[in-house]
Parts: sequence; structure tokens; C-alpha cells
Amino acid sequence: EAISFQKTDEKYRDLIPTLPKEKGWMVEHLLQYNGYWFSPSTSALKGAIFLQHHFKPRPTDVLLATSPKTGTTWLKALIFATMNRANFELSNHPLLTTGPHGLVPFFDFIFQDDDSISSHRALPSPRLFATHFPYSLLPEIVTTSSSGCRFVYICRNPKDVLVSKWLFMSKSRPKELPNLSLEEAFELFCRGVSHFGPYWDHVLGYWKASLESPNKVLFLKYEDMKNDPVVHVRRLAEFIGKPFSAEEERNGAVEEIIRLCSFENLSNLEVNKGGMQKFSPEIAVDKSNFFRKGQVGDWKNYLTEEMAKRIDQISDEKLLGSGLRF
Ligand code: A3P
Repeated sequence: EAISFQKTDEKYRDLIPTLPKEKGWMVEHLLQYNGYWFSPSTSALKGAIFLQHHFKPRPTDVLLATSPKTGTTWLKALIFATMNRANFELSNHPLLTTGPHGLVPFFDFIFQDDDSISSHRALPSPRLFATHFPYSLLPEIVTTSSSGCRFVYICRNPKDVLVSKWLFMSKSRPKELPNLSLEEAFELFCRGVSHFGPYWDHVLGYWKASLESPNKVLFLKYEDMKNDPVVHVRRLAEFIGKPFSAEEERNGAVEEIIRLCSFENLSNLEVNKGGMQKFSPEIAVDKSNFFRKGQVGDWKNYLTEEMAKRIDQISDEKLLGSGLRF
């Protein structure tokens, strides 16, 4: 390595006390690094810094990038199933016995310990990783067009993201901490203070990259995927260089993958109903928390009209001139 792990660790430790702090959603506080908010207890910030110096991309790498609660679990399943469809029978598919998070690791945490470092290096190509990191924080050797790495990004209406996130965080919040009210979460979210937020900046970073390099970044929307999954899974397959053949189309391969990865199917599998998903030595989440309703527009059951208006206003301001609409 050009710089040793020990040096990177020292750099990280020196940095922490210098970072701006704000109230956290799940743990006590969030730290701001290069414009984005990180939860120190998840070690993702450590991961972001280690990746800068130690990650070696391969031209065949596929990276699923998301802001939390926008459809990460679903897309992990869909990309995994699409990418590996030649290797598995649907009746005996790994998704039936291992959850999407068990099959597609977050590369945000691969530099936590020696085991994860060597296991990601030993993965056969093509590798599939997920990340919550904003585009601007990824190492240049990954984002540069010559790396060959491809990104699939999914965004979701911020009102549904806020509600999904608040409910998820409330379930995962340690009992010792007082509840975080929806009003408080709303204020934090609007000010951009949320994991890997500001949400709008996260989305815009990948949106712009997708406009500049459409062959490198595929930009998807949760709502479009729900509305017409067939069209989007086809696009996804083409984008990762594995288009469905005419025969596969005739045999209903696209529909089969969609059914396998549907909310109804995945959320009812034993493997996704119980137990904990461990992401790093510090973070483990109840697997069932990744499946709630999986619907578009559930925010209407939680947000007041005023809250909705304010979020829409922020979206209008932030997305102005970008060509993107939620
Ligand atoms: P809701 O809380 O609105 O139900 P992430 O995977 O990024 O953490 O996002 C979680 C959200 O995606 C939750 O939204 C969850 O219910 C939904 N979800 C999980 N699996 C899904 C699937 N197979 N299809 C559609 N939505 C899914």
C-alpha cells in the first residue's frame, strides 16, 4: 500500500474531534465530513477514509449506491438475481436462504478488520457491492471513467424517505435514549442532518454523474420501479452487460426475477423475518426492519400538509435547473 493502514487509522482518529456535530437519529450524534453527515457508531466514516487510500477497483465491479431507505434491500436482491441468473435455479436460489444484505456487502465497511479486507479481495469477478456514500466522497480511482466500475443509483421521494427512515430509526434506537419525535426528525431532515445527508445533495451528486456518464451511472427511481418493474429490470440487465435474450424474455425470466425479489415474497421468507444482520463489528440490525410496507406515498399517513409542503419546497429549490423531479 502507498499509505499503511496504521497511518490511515491515525488520520481518521485525528479527524474525528475536529468535525461538526449534530443530534443523531439512532445514536447520540452525527458528524459532518466534507458536507455529509455520518453516524460515528456505524464506522462508515472510517470506511470512507480507508476506501480513499486502500480500495482497488476492478473494471467489472458493479456498485449499488443509495441513500438509506430508498430501496437498497430491493435493489440488492434485483441486481444480485439479474447478474447471477445463469448460476442459480429459482427453486434453489440463494435469496431464499440468505437475505439481500447477506449476499451483497456494503463496501462502506470492508476496511473494518482483516477478515473483511481479505474476503472482499478474494471475491471473484464481477463483484457486486452496495454503498451509501455520496458520489463526491468516493475515491477518484473508482469514479474516473477509466476504472470501468459501474454504478446503479436509486432515489425515492423524500417524503417517503423521511417517514421510512424515522420509523426504521425509532425501532433501532437504543432504549436508553429518549424517543425522537417525527417533528424533530422532520426538522433535522429538512436541514440536511440525516445519515449520508443532505438527502437532496446525495441524489443530485449521482444524478449529475448519470448525466455526464450515462454508461457509468444508471439512475433509477423507486416509484418508477414499482410502477413498471419489467422495463427497469430490463434496463438494469442491459446496463450491467447482461441483457435478457429473446429466449429468456419468452420464458418469462424478467417476471420471475421480479417475483422473487418482490416485497411480498422477500418479506415472507423465514430468512428475512428474524435474526440480526451484522454489517460491521459495531452495527447489527433486525432483518425484519428492512421490510415495512414497500409502498409509494405512505407519507400521507404521517406528515401534515404543512410538512409535505415544506419538503416539496426544498425539493423545488434544490432540484431547480437540474432536470430532475421527484
Ligand atoms: P417503507 O419503510 O416505506 O416500507 P432500504 O432497503 O434502502 O433500507 O429501504 C427500505 C424501504 O424499502 C422500506 O420502505 C421497505 O419496506 C422497502 N422495501 C424493502 N424491500 C422491498 C421490496 N422487495 N420491494 C419494494 N420495497 C421494498
